[in-house]
Amino acid sequence: MDAITCKNVCKVFKVKKHKVKALNSMNLNIEKGEIYGFLGPNGAGKSTTLKILMDLIRADSGSVKIMGRNSSDYKARKRVGFLPENPSFMDNLTGREIVKFSGKVHGMPPNQLDKKIIEILDLLDLSEAAERPVRKYSKGMVQRVGFAAAIVHDPDLLILDEPMSGLDPMGRVLFKSILKDINKKGTTVLFSSHIIPDIEDICTKIGIVKNGRLLREITSTEMKYTSTHKFKIIFKHDGNVCENILDYKVSGIDENLGFVTVGKEKAVDVIDYLRRISFDLVDIQPEKKDLETLFVEISGQRNDNE
Ligand SMILES: Nc1ncnc2c1ncn2[C@@H]1O[C@H](COP(=O)(O)OP(=O)(O)OP(=O)(O)O)[C@@H](O)[C@H]1O
Ligand SMILES: [Mg+2]
Repeated sequence: MDAITCKNVCKVFKVKKHKVKALNSMNLNIEKGEIYGFLGPNGAGKSTTLKILMDLIRADSGSVKIMGRNSSDYKARKRVGFLPENPSFMDNLTGREIVKFSGKVHGMPPNQLDKKIIEILDLLDLSEAAERPVRKYSKGMVQRVGFAAAIVHDPDLLILDEPMSGLDPMGRVLFKSILKDINKKGTTVLFSSHIIPDIEDICTKIGIVKNGRLLREITSTEMKYTSTHKFKIIFKHDGNVCENILDYKVSGIDENLGFVTVGKEKAVDVIDYLRRISFDLVDIQPEKKDLETLFVEISGQRNDNE
């Protein structure tokens, strides 16, 4: 059974006389155990999909299942944790009260909950601020409280909308390590993000979304081996190397190591040439496409958010 299944999900928003097609036959299958990154430009339909999964809004057509149940069935969401795009809470509540409320709503027994709250506030570096009302929190602190509330009950499925957007670099590292740990213990994670390195670092699968539909999925293994069809040819030289080798610019690694990057059809010529001039070949590495290059190619649009 998949953790999430969306089949031909459509959603149109009506704004006065205009219609906005937010989802245009969104199909999504997320297997249990994945950390799935939802990547797409502004307005692609990421938040709309996540809200429909949480039954905060309803699809016009199509079917949406989480953990095998229709998303409209409240039982489906009992073992799910959710962090919305811009979390906001009743601002007179303290951080501890917000996390406690979430634990109660998700049916945690009180003695277990109190222990877990202490643990989780500590994990998210919120212990000192725990008794302060959230109106006195910074944006990053609100994000941390929202995250604590989403994970306090050890959900089977965690859905996060741009969880790392308001965080400083240390906060991002912390969130990523927590997400990895939670996933290792068995929680399936779906999160949307614009921050390509964050997605690249932790996701087992990435879905690229645009215009309300899934354009393509990339697994982490594919990402490792997605080749540009170019090779980096690394060689040792005596310090007297010219600027170009067969018209390819030589770049330096250190004073005796250099490399050229060539298309695969020219690699053999370059290797032959290096042999002729008695430079030792050190390594030949396929050049990897990074996620940003892939994203731009697939979505046909630059990702300028970060
Ligand atoms: N409540 C709403 N009323 C009208 N239009 C909406 C509403 N919510 C979303 N939309 C529109 O639906 C489309 C998809 O929006 P959505 O928020 O899902 O995008 P997103 O991928 O989350 O974008 P972002 O990266 O900016 O968060 C956009 O064109 C948006 O303007
Ligand atoms: Mg969004």
